[in-house]
Amino acid sequence: MNKNWWHDKVAYQIYPKSFLDTNGDGIGDLRGILSKLDYLKALGIDIIWLSPIYKSPFVDQGYDISDYYAIAEEFGTMEEFDELLAEAKKRDMYIIMDLVINHCSDKHEWFQKALAEPDGEYADYFYFRQGKSGNPPSNYRSYFGGSCWEPVAGTDKYYFHMFAKEQPDLNWENPRLRQELYQMINWWLEKGLTGFRIDAIINIKKNLDFPDFEPDGPDGLAGCWKMVESAEGVGEFLEDLKQNTFQKHNAFTVAEVFNMKDGELADFIEENGHFSTIFDFSAHCLSDGEHGWYDAPAVSFQKWRDTIIHAQLDIQKYGMEANIIENHDEPRGVSRFLPEYARTPAGTKMLGTVNILLRGIPFIYQGQEIGMQNAVWNSIEEYDDISTKDQYHIARDAGLSDAEALTVCSRMSRDNARTPMQWNSQKNAGFTTGTPWLKVNGNYKEINVERQEKDEASVLHYYQRLVALRKSPAYKEVFTYGTFSPAFEHTETVMAYYRTTADKKVLVAANFGREAVELTLAHDICHILLSNMGAEETDTSSHMLRLESCEVIVLECGQPL
Ligand code: GLC
Ligand code: CA
Repeated sequence: MNKNWWHDKVAYQIYPKSFLDTNGDGIGDLRGILSKLDYLKALGIDIIWLSPIYKSPFVDQGYDISDYYAIAEEFGTMEEFDELLAEAKKRDMYIIMDLVINHCSDKHEWFQKALAEPDGEYADYFYFRQGKSGNPPSNYRSYFGGSCWEPVAGTDKYYFHMFAKEQPDLNWENPRLRQELYQMINWWLEKGLTGFRIDAIINIKKNLDFPDFEPDGPDGLAGCWKMVESAEGVGEFLEDLKQNTFQKHNAFTVAEVFNMKDGELADFIEENGHFSTIFDFSAHCLSDGEHGWYDAPAVSFQKWRDTIIHAQLDIQKYGMEANIIENHDEPRGVSRFLPEYARTPAGTKMLGTVNILLRGIPFIYQGQEIGMQNAVWNSIEEYDDISTKDQYHIARDAGLSDAEALTVCSRMSRDNARTPMQWNSQKNAGFTTGTPWLKVNGNYKEINVERQEKDEASVLHYYQRLVALRKSPAYKEVFTYGTFSPAFEHTETVMAYYRTTADKKVLVAANFGREAVELTLAHDICHILLSNMGAEETDTSSHMLRLESCEVIVLECGQPL
């Protein structure tokens, strides 16, 4: 594999609205981010991904952009953004932005012009289609519920949206639209942006016949992803995009890709692939319900482990992916992937270790480094997220009681990851002096940055050591390029793997079980590199490795036995 500058980097996702508010309006802002660059540097972060900060009506929290060239007032100004670029650069850090180009906001000028002239030039920036005998053109359910087709007032046409109706899909078949997007992307890259996280990108290619599918829910509709899976040729759009933008600037790109077709992975992530990398969501997709969150299957430890192992083995044939525990669309990983008895600082460190030392680029989501957890939600009114509200109704329509539907939402809601960052034990966790736009997690007095900074044994200090180990001169090579191979897969409760280069072999072993286990090593122990329970003191002459419940050990292997 040819080396590339970003291969050995560690990234961090900021959800700006919930990161840090500096002017008391209850909304995080660019000043807040600026003031925490040193905090991120101390954590070992190289690349910062900002969820959308463009001008937006915030129907979907900024993933509905009304002006791609402007910063949302709520977050600050373009001058502050430029300052952020400069300050990051001073610290050898890189900024990437979200790129939302499958759709824009219905308040975007293009869409407003399209509505004003439904037969005009701008209507063709979108999908305006005739209905079928008084019905929408096809029977698709949007990702956020309801039909994908919305009537265009005063006409017999509908426009297409795969997400909310305020997020009309852009027509990538139109070369002028594509040129406008490329121009905008290049404008940001010329400003000094390092690259992008690319939103929902597989959706840009439609099956232009818009065929109906067998309904798969009581609403008589079929999931719109079925249309995406029936569309051919997304690769041509992605290559055109890359050649006209990213490639010219040697930009780093990480794409959000679901519904990839079999055999397509290489096209996306190999050296000359569409993107630098994509996220590995395989463990997250295990809890996709057939009809929604309410029938999301429980995920066993073994299933989770096998899925990650399978993904790692597959990916390393072609390139690298980006590894996450959580993001702004997912519940907190500690609450999701750890059994209740393991939702402790030790368990949190164990989960972090297993994830961060996998092969691929780690993306830490804000608050993960202090072990933030899902919040306790008491009523549907407490949520802001459009998708949570939809899923609540789906659950109710499927016959769940209010309490049951709330339990489902508590477990799966995207707002679990969007509660304000917990900085200290003061009012609103130090996030704002005003009223936070979304409630603060009630556990902020126990889990917060200030408290953990003072405690050497905290999750935060551990994450610093973990990231430092991954990037250390002696072990960087093995953690970046070392082959992944599973270990001890036949144990019931252990997730373990080797990372191996020509001259080094490292074992990461974690016991997710409630009882201690003993593993027989196939190698001498050279050094214990990291442990969450003080195993640095372990007798390295023994070939038995004892792991307590929730213990993780990272060790360098010596001579094989
Ligand atoms: C992506 C984003 C999500 C957003 C959706 C529509 O999945 O991560 O937050 O709602 O795209 O833009
Ligand atoms: Ca603010």
